[in-house]
Amino acid sequence: MKEILKVDSILKQFGKINAVSNLSFSVQKGEIFALLGPNGAGKATTVRMLMDIIRPDEGSIEYFLIDSSKSQIPLSSQLGYLPEERGLYQEIPIIKTLEFMGEIGKPDLSLF
Ligand SMILES: Nc1ncnc2c1ncn2[C@@H]1O[C@H](COP(=O)(O)OP(=O)(O)OP(=O)(O)O)[C@@H](O)[C@H]1O
Ligand SMILES: [Mg+2]
Repeated sequence: MKEILKVDSILKQFGKINAVSNLSFSVQKGEIFALLGPNGAGKATTVRMLMDIIRPDEGSIEYFLIDSSKSQIPLSSQLGYLPEERGLYQEIPIIKTLEFMGEIGKPDLSLF
């Protein structure tokens, strides 16, 4: 089987709290992988590091998704992430939310 994700000895601290400590695992292509643990075990922190939302203080996370001939494709366009929270605005109708997301998904980079 082909390895598509390799996590090696990652550590994440928030102040004095060790949220994730010395975690290593790898995931094979086609494998369904689950992180289980009690409240506060560091699951969400690990997923946030896997999504590159936050960076580990130590250790490494490596993906092997990208076809080397297409190495310009950003990792973010190959990953999907459904967070615990729905991430919807209560005040805005769903169609307006979709339009808004569609627009910010294609920003006009000349504005920045
Ligand atoms: N942004 C943060 N600032 C400070 N401490 C944090 C932060 N995020 C997480 N922590 C702490 O890191 C530890 C791991 O939290 P995390 O949310 O990753 O656990 P979890 O396994 O997802 O828990 P749960 O099952 O309750 O969702 C906890 O002690 C938590 O209080
Ligand atoms: Mg959590």
